[in-house]
Amino acid sequence: MNRITLINTLLNSIKGNNYLEIGVRDGKTITEIKAKFKIGVDPAYHLKRNLALKGVLGLNDFKLFKQTSDDFFKNEAKKTFPDGIDLVFIDGLHNYDQSLRDVINSLEFLNPNGFMVLHDCNPKGAAQAYPIKNSYDEVIEVLQDGGIEGWTGEWNGDVWKTIVHLRAFHPELNVRTIDADQGLGVISFGQNHHQLNVEKSELENAEFDFLEQNRKRFLGLISKEEFLTELKA
Ligand SMILES: C[S@@+](CC[C@H](N)C(=O)[O-])C[C@H]1O[C@@H](n2cnc3c(N)ncnc32)[C@H](O)[C@@H]1O
Repeated sequence: MNRITLINTLLNSIKGNNYLEIGVRDGKTITEIKAKFKIGVDPAYHLKRNLALKGVLGLNDFKLFKQTSDDFFKNEAKKTFPDGIDLVFIDGLHNYDQSLRDVINSLEFLNPNGFMVLHDCNPKGAAQAYPIKNSYDEVIEVLQDGGIEGWTGEWNGDVWKTIVHLRAFHPELNVRTIDADQGLGVISFGQNHHQLNVEKSELENAEFDFLEQNRKRFLGLISKEEFLTELKA
């Protein structure tokens, strides 16, 4: 299972039409998603020229907004999704603050049976979880400046903190992480039966070893088989 097969499976399970992708980059995912109405938001996407031009005009099977997710939610989301959103794929700026804000902003538009999928929730090591403030360029800078111990080329940021945050402070949400494709967080409305006992300040200041101590419980880590069984039920 990867993000594309998961998103298509979830959309199919609810017969969802409306899809929002935050962070589109080269369009690898949005072009493969089977939904009638697809919107992509990214201040710096780099799709092939034809695909991008048609995307801006809404002439592909998706429409593009060249702006941050914050601006999209502030200025465009209400008029773009009058019937709500069935699936939001959050894969924009990979830090705790922004990914949490993307989730909270999406909640206002998510249909009652809808899903959010959050990419990069299960970093394998501290290098992969290296935290940034405003831009991926911060990773490049530190790599050029002598590197990051344990660097493998894979990078996820500290999006994992958003999963822990939701599992600790949002009892109205069912939040789990599928152990596939760098960790696929799946968020839906429903009771959180395993609320974590974590302090906000503890999480804000946490480093990677905090996750390591209790990865399975903190992330609600499950296999793709377990998730598919849950979805069928
Ligand atoms: C990991 S890539 C997305 C990959 C894509 N979703 C896929 O599956 O192929 C992250 C993208 O997020 C974009 N991004 C960074 N900050 C953002 C923000 N505040 N709002 C929306 N997108 C953002 C970057 O420009 C980059 O293209």
